[in-house]
Amino acid sequence: MKQSEFKKRRKQLMQRVGKGNIALIGSAFTRIRNRDVDYPFRQDSDFYYLTGFNEPDAMAVFIPGREQGEYILFCREFDEKKAIWEGAHAGLEGATKHFEADDAFPIDDLDDILPGMLEGKTKVFYPMGRDSDLDHSLLEWINHIRSQSRTGAVAPGELVSLETILHEMRLFKSTAELKLMRRAAEVSAHGHVKAMQNCKPGMHEYQIEADLVHHFMQEGLRAVAYPSIVAGGKNACTLHYTANKDKLKSGDLLLIDAGAECDHYAADITRTFPVSGRFSEPQKQLYQLVLDAQYAAIEQIKPGQPWNLAHDAAVEVITKGLVSLGLLKGRVKKLIKDEKYKPFFMHRIGHWLGMDVHDVGDYKIDQQWRLLEPGMVLTVEPGLYIAADCKSVDEKWRGIGIRIEDDVLVTAEGHEILTSAVPKTIAEIEAIMQAA
Ligand code: GLY
Ligand code: MN
Ligand code: MN
Repeated sequence: MKQSEFKKRRKQLMQRVGKGNIALIGSAFTRIRNRDVDYPFRQDSDFYYLTGFNEPDAMAVFIPGREQGEYILFCREFDEKKAIWEGAHAGLEGATKHFEADDAFPIDDLDDILPGMLEGKTKVFYPMGRDSDLDHSLLEWINHIRSQSRTGAVAPGELVSLETILHEMRLFKSTAELKLMRRAAEVSAHGHVKAMQNCKPGMHEYQIEADLVHHFMQEGLRAVAYPSIVAGGKNACTLHYTANKDKLKSGDLLLIDAGAECDHYAADITRTFPVSGRFSEPQKQLYQLVLDAQYAAIEQIKPGQPWNLAHDAAVEVITKGLVSLGLLKGRVKKLIKDEKYKPFFMHRIGHWLGMDVHDVGDYKIDQQWRLLEPGMVLTVEPGLYIAADCKSVDEKWRGIGIRIEDDVLVTAEGHEILTSAVPKTIAEIEAIMQAA
């Protein structure tokens, strides 16, 4: 992502924050995994969105209209010894030179410098309640200013959630963002195809996971957007199954929910296919039902449609189908009203997708489902999960879990499926597996 993109975002943010106010946002932290070993560092999405700065121990400050510079970055000072152990870091010079901060200060001086920046401002925009240390520090800085009121110092009087501005911005993807999302989607889709081609009875779930990650990394995408779900047979009925440790059996389905991250942008794809390469009759019937529900839901993705219509369309197809297959009994309308489909389809149709797999952005405005607009990206992921011990249905359906998930961009004309490179019809899946 070019610096000009981050600059554009900062300008937009600055306009919304307004003169006389200030905004701050901290970076993510490193977290200890065990002695001397950290978890892989992943920058905070909001922070990265505005800065492109990929280090911990940093704080970005935005002061619209400040004469000496509107964008200030507090970060680690360059330290040669640290560089030997941990590699390059920008330092203050890099922060201004490469990351285009107007001013940079050592993060260790935050307590000394920030009160002076807060002084005289009306509102402080910041990610309220996300980091209790920052909540605490902010009140301390404000109290410090208040203690000097006799010298004429005026402390800010309003704390405002930065997310209300930022997350609305993040909901609409720019051309540069879509380029990264398309790349994440494309690489992830090919990873799923490879998993289909490599899958054989007797393999373990983790071996399929390894195939996916291998492909992502070979393509230069080192991080997964979320822990991969590779769930054979009844494991697929656990929605966020990530143990990925069981042996794959002929006759079972395999559900894979996995996506790579490309420069902080996620893909999120689910496919379900038979371990042996051929669906059984009951598997075929349930699979086709989920696929029909997904088609019906995707048809609802166009500008001006309320977000929930895709969900409602899927619920209707699924409920009708469950009645015709005999898993539910009764009138479709009443079954939908009584949510009788919920033991089998218990999650929503999807979510916004972007830097976070469950991305930011409001789903309702003034308590009404919001209307879709071009530039939004969302997943469409209906599923059916028939628990292994579900006594209310015929035995042949039990222990089957199916989800089909694609990433869909709302366009001016309707929609574009970003993940269409991975097949999903029964005929296509069987053909690709048998040709392998
Ligand atoms: N991978 C999580 C989800 O599909 O929402
Ligand atoms: Mn999803
Ligand atoms: Mn998913």
